[in-house]
Amino acid sequence: MTEHFRVVELPLTVDEFRRLPRNPAYKYEYFGGRCVLTPRPKLFGCARDLSAVAAEPWEPVEVRHLPAADAPGLADLFAAALGRTQPFESLDDAAADAALAATYRKTLSGEDGPLIEAACFRAVDPREASRGDVGGVLVTLAPPEVLTEPFAGVWKGPPPADAVERRLGVPHLTWVFVHPWEVRRGVGSALLAAVVEALRGLGFSDLASTFALDNGPSALWHWRHGFRLLPQMSALHRRWEARRAAGG
Ligand SMILES: CC(C)(COP(=O)(O)OP(=O)(O)OC[C@H]1O[C@@H](n2cnc3c(N)ncnc32)[C@H](O)[C@@H]1OP(=O)(O)O)[C@@H](O)C(=O)NCCC(=O)NCCS
Repeated sequence: MTEHFRVVELPLTVDEFRRLPRNPAYKYEYFGGRCVLTPRPKLFGCARDLSAVAAEPWEPVEVRHLPAADAPGLADLFAAALGRTQPFESLDDAAADAALAATYRKTLSGEDGPLIEAACFRAVDPREASRGDVGGVLVTLAPPEVLTEPFAGVWKGPPPADAVERRLGVPHLTWVFVHPWEVRRGVGSALLAAVVEALRGLGFSDLASTFALDNGPSALWHWRHGFRLLPQMSALHRRWEARRAAGG
């Protein structure tokens, strides 16, 4: 998703530049009558113990298993939910549509790690089933280092075909998305409860995830559900110190 960030340039006066609200995903500079926003996405790894009880759904939302073959059908819902977050919100409509479609396809194709199909779900509002899906969640398998090493969420080489069955990595909540009209009424929580139960059944013990500093609802949602921050800069400093001590 970070590959879709673009530099944004705005013609502004100095006074307008000073008063412009800031988004932490960008660095703000002013050059000769133009404000230049350079992408600086700040992503944070977090994880949750699967033995912890998942929040109980509090609204009547029906959560159904999402087979990989049906997942492309949720592409529009994904775009509606993520279209209001960075970097997609800063693109023009055509570029945003293309970036959202490519991002969703990338996860389904396994480029974000093998899909853990048994832990992917869709949510339907049973009171208004005709409206269709209101949310979805896609879980992938990340390398085991994702829990201990910063920025280690991508496999260095193709994982074995049976990596999920052999539990060779850590489940990663790659996308959880709820239609903008349906947020804040427990749909995301109901999806997470289903994910936790499914992963426990498969014998996993942790669930990793990632949130962006500029995405307040996502950060708060993770916090509410017991995700804890994984070491980031402190882990990097420890690694540099160890290398220096070893003469590297
Ligand atoms: C993040 C997201 C999935 C949350 O789904 P949701 O169904 O709205 O979340 P829930 O109703 O289950 O919220 C549970 C808790 O999360 C927190 N939370 C969620 N959205 C929040 C918001 N907008 N503001 C403040 N807290 C929020 C709250 O603590 C909430 O509990 P509370 O209402 O008792 O305080 C949803 O906002 C979304 O789809 N966002 C766009 C896509 C995205 O950014 N996904 C995350 C990255 S993959």
